[in-house]
Amino acid sequence: MTNNLRFDGRVVIVTGAGGGLGRSHALAFGSRGASVVVNDLGGSHTGEGASKRAADMVVDEIQAAGGKAVANYDSVLDGEKIVETAMKAFGRVDIVVNNAGILKDVSFARMTDQQWDLIFQVHVDGAYKVLKAAWPIFRKQKYGRVINTTSAAGIYGNFGQANYSAAKLALVGLTSTLALEGKKENIHSNVIAPMAASRMTETIMPPDMLKSLKPEMVTPLVLYLCHEDTKENGSLFEVGAGFVGKLRWERTGGYGFPNNKALLPEHIQERWAQITNFEDGRVTHPGSTQESMESIIANFENLAGDSDAKAPSSGPSPAK
Ligand code: NAI
Repeated sequence: MTNNLRFDGRVVIVTGAGGGLGRSHALAFGSRGASVVVNDLGGSHTGEGASKRAADMVVDEIQAAGGKAVANYDSVLDGEKIVETAMKAFGRVDIVVNNAGILKDVSFARMTDQQWDLIFQVHVDGAYKVLKAAWPIFRKQKYGRVINTTSAAGIYGNFGQANYSAAKLALVGLTSTLALEGKKENIHSNVIAPMAASRMTETIMPPDMLKSLKPEMVTPLVLYLCHEDTKENGSLFEVGAGFVGKLRWERTGGYGFPNNKALLPEHIQERWAQITNFEDGRVTHPGSTQESMESIIANFENLAGDSDAKAPSSGPSPAK
């Protein structure tokens, strides 16, 4: 296969690119002609300390392979400085990969406000700050590509990660709205839930599993989504160990109760099997708030006559 997905002339910011997934993304962009801003604060995986070494080493690697890269050592919370580094070094920004992240794992019962706040700051405020500084540039040039990094922990929950789960799912919401707001100006935003061996996962996964989870098996999806020819926008993917899959919401056909009669908890109880049934061939996949509202609006007209108003069992058929 020819390597024809090139990024010549494009400038990419990869946050947290001093190690793990970010390093892999940065090296790959650099090898395909992009000018790369390698951002990394260089602290520990729980957010302590700072060092220039991590970013410098990746810049050296990209340059040694003949690529173009500069380091930036700011926290993502100073997103405007990271964008400034790109503008000073290369004069533009085309792609932002929000990848920087830390963990503060602890059960919800024991979680402190600081542990909650810090995770939100790095993941959510950090992504916001970088994007907020890049967005006007994207809009002006009518071009931009955004990757945010969520996690299976955000989508499904994970014991001991209430702060991380909540912050990671916030990035899915952010991506969905940016996809809508950027579409007209050719700014595409997508979000990935990766799985890869890194210092973040090496303490929680067995060595055998880690061997099969190379960051390089996540990166190609990031590059594909960031290419100028790729139209995908507002989507969520799970990716790791060579598996790539897209996610969407699924809703049951539900049950439409009469909209002109009192709705009691007992009515819900009686129709619970229909409300929660994913197997009756009536599921839908709402892809927008408009589509989500369709069933609710359809039920505006679901009006019971006096005869069927008393017992929930005599209620109307499910809303279409
Ligand atoms: P990692 O710890 O190797 O890389 C994260 C990088 O972000 C580090 O180099 C760190 O110095 C940097 N960083 C942390 N705080 C920063 C800040 N305030 N400003 C700038 N840089 C900062 O971890 P890994 O696994 O490569 O994680 C990358 C992203 O992928 C993270 O957002 C993580 O939450 C996410 N993720 C990773 C998974 C995995 O299986 N490795 C699973 C799900 C999500």
